Amino acid sequence: MRVAMIGAGYVGLVSGACLANLGHTVTCIDKDTGKIAALRRGEMPIYEPGLAELVAGNVAAHRLFFTTSLAEAVKDAAAVFIAVGTPSRPADGLADLTCVYQAAREIAHTLRGYAVIVTKSTVPVGTGDEIQRIIADIRPDADLSVVSNPEFLREGAAIQDFMQPDRVVIGTDDARAREVMYELYRPLADNGTPVLLTARRGAELIKYAANAFLATKITFINEIADLCEQANADVEEVAHGIGLDHRIGPKFLSAGPGYGGSCFPKDLLALLKAGLDFGVPIRSIETIISINDQRKRAMARKVIAACGGSIRGRPIAVLGLTFKAGTDDMRESPAVAIITALQDAGARVRAYDPQGMTQARSVLNGVEFAHDPYACAQGADALVVMTEWKEFRELDLRRIRCLLKRPILVDLRNIYRPEAMAEHGFTYVSVGRPKVQSAT
Ligand code: UDX
Repeated sequence: MRVAMIGAGYVGLVSGACLANLGHTVTCIDKDTGKIAALRRGEMPIYEPGLAELVAGNVAAHRLFFTTSLAEAVKDAAAVFIAVGTPSRPADGLADLTCVYQAAREIAHTLRGYAVIVTKSTVPVGTGDEIQRIIADIRPDADLSVVSNPEFLREGAAIQDFMQPDRVVIGTDDARAREVMYELYRPLADNGTPVLLTARRGAELIKYAANAFLATKITFINEIADLCEQANADVEEVAHGIGLDHRIGPKFLSAGPGYGGSCFPKDLLALLKAGLDFGVPIRSIETIISINDQRKRAMARKVIAACGGSIRGRPIAVLGLTFKAGTDDMRESPAVAIITALQDAGARVRAYDPQGMTQARSVLNGVEFAHDPYACAQGADALVVMTEWKEFRELDLRRIRCLLKRPILVDLRNIYRPEAMAEHGFTYVSVGRPKVQSAT
């Protein structure tokens, strides 16, 4: 089937390459000529494990193409995906649908036969109706269906999440559109993936509700972690114990510095605002957002307390800048707010991240960047683990201990075991677990 994918970002590029890998002929479209030129040279605009190989294989198989011309790509497509960004509007926190509606207008001008227009972008409930109206206004003659097909891709695991999804959600009541969409995802369905057919608005809301629930799980375990620290209990044990209940499940119960990324913060805000627009204030989400926002400065206070109450003029090493491991994405990373709070308290911050430093340089001020974790730790008064990169779990801790001016390690991702840290002579502080004083 011929597919047009409008938007070659974190969602569009992965989704386009994966649909090509399912056997379809996909053209990814982007207005960014530099991005399209780079993709044609085989250079990836984002860091996503396995993406370069997936793209190369499907380009070589003549199933995946890149263009800046929407008209060219859309005219013969059976399915046209809208996978453009829907960031939060600074004024009111609602999803900015400018790019979505612009794509709808451009699609309208190119439609020739029946086409299925698929919103892959995360859009508020009712956006599909608006897209239908926009296109009908321009082309009353157009024969089309507008379908909601939300993505559930985690950065760093996006290809796996597309190729082995828990479910595919297809939001439309139109029989022809259901047939086209089922054909698109048939290889996954034949592999046993549940394909859920819903109304369009149901699918639009599933996306927001899923992200809001996941963020709620994270925020809940973070608050339980705070209680564990005061009650001298271990949040890892509590998370394990509740996660064994199949009604709760073990995932998204890792205590940390709070959630970040390009999705949870914007989607929860958009859901909250959409609820208000419908006259339904979602108080739980309002509270989750507030707790998560406050957590970042609380993490900075944890670092300051571990350093004896003052970090003024002192060098603090930070390992990890991206909002989580496996990505180069700095959007809404807790590291930004936490480092800013440490600088507000007078610290001199040096940082290292395996993938995020290019983006970090444009969002952090006054931070020195080190070329590896050991250079980062050299001479610092304390080391903070901000992101759970695999290479941080494999550090030579004896060497780190010698490089630090003081043996203080604050682990905001619980990647180390307190007992091991005691043996290495660290004053070890983590999240929701008992503090370990330096044995020396
Ligand atoms: C999320 C959703 O998981 C995905 O389904 C949706 O399509 C996009 O948004 P993503 O933002 O890429 O994906 O990352 P995710 O792995 O969900 O982590 C989000 C944030 O929560 C990160 O800051 C992460 O560090 C944090 N997190 C996640 C925790 O603090 N604890 C956990 O147990 C899991």
